[in-house]
Amino acid sequence: MKRVIKKLSYPGFFISFEGGEGAGKSTQIRHLVAFFKKNNLPVELTLEPGGTPIGKKVRELLLDPKNTALTHRAELLLYLADRAQHVEEFILPALKAGKIVITDRYADSSNVYQGICRKLGLDETMKLNDFATQNLYPDLAIILDLPVKMGFDRMRQRVLDRMEREKASFHQQVRKGFLHLSQKYPKRIQVVNAAQSEDQVQAEIARLILARIKKTKGTTLWKKLAP
Ligand SMILES: Nc1ncnc2c1ncn2[C@@H]1O[C@H](COP(=O)(O)OP(=O)(O)OP(=O)(O)O)[C@@H](O)[C@H]1O
Ligand SMILES: [Mg+2]
Repeated sequence: MKRVIKKLSYPGFFISFEGGEGAGKSTQIRHLVAFFKKNNLPVELTLEPGGTPIGKKVRELLLDPKNTALTHRAELLLYLADRAQHVEEFILPALKAGKIVITDRYADSSNVYQGICRKLGLDETMKLNDFATQNLYPDLAIILDLPVKMGFDRMRQRVLDRMEREKASFHQQVRKGFLHLSQKYPKRIQVVNAAQSEDQVQAEIARLILARIKKTKGTTLWKKLAP
């Protein structure tokens, strides 16, 4: 059956950051939040899994390295449960209140990690995402693309969680999976070369986001950002 997605309408603006481990998502989100705040725009920063109090409990289950028995289907459903709660409790109300919402990971992470890499099927994860999110998809999804080794070099000081402990070939598939999705949905998803300097990545992200805000929110949010 063909998926028919009717775009929800709200006065806010929704951005997701996606990509492999250590690509610079948290770093760039920090820059973007500071940019919007400097322009006096209401912005909310959130993350998956764990963007709500219930989600934090789901996050513990998902990322605890001791949970090696977790099956792929159960893993997917836990990510989706976290997302369903996140959308209804936090993201949608903020967008309806006219805020900019930036999330560190969202639906495309399930499409890639569970749909493609765990081989549960992209069609399946997309349909399940439609249900979990009430068809709420970002106005723009930014994928930070980085060679796997560079990502792990950048994360060297950290203790790795359950997903990060997957072998290198899994993370190669993650990278390929995100690039595949971006080719399939070139309007909704934009890829940024995350091997550039922090400043260069930041400038490219700002350019993409401002262009999208201008296009989709021409009369409201954009006015405040226009010089
Ligand atoms: N463009 C860059 N060039 C070099 N180092 C960077 C760049 N961007 C971020 N870093 C550094 O790389 C490390 C990982 O960055 P960050 O935590 O933002 O990545 P992430 O995508 O959020 O990772 P995770 O998957 O662990 O959440 C940090 O130490 C950060 O300072
Ligand atoms: Mg991070």
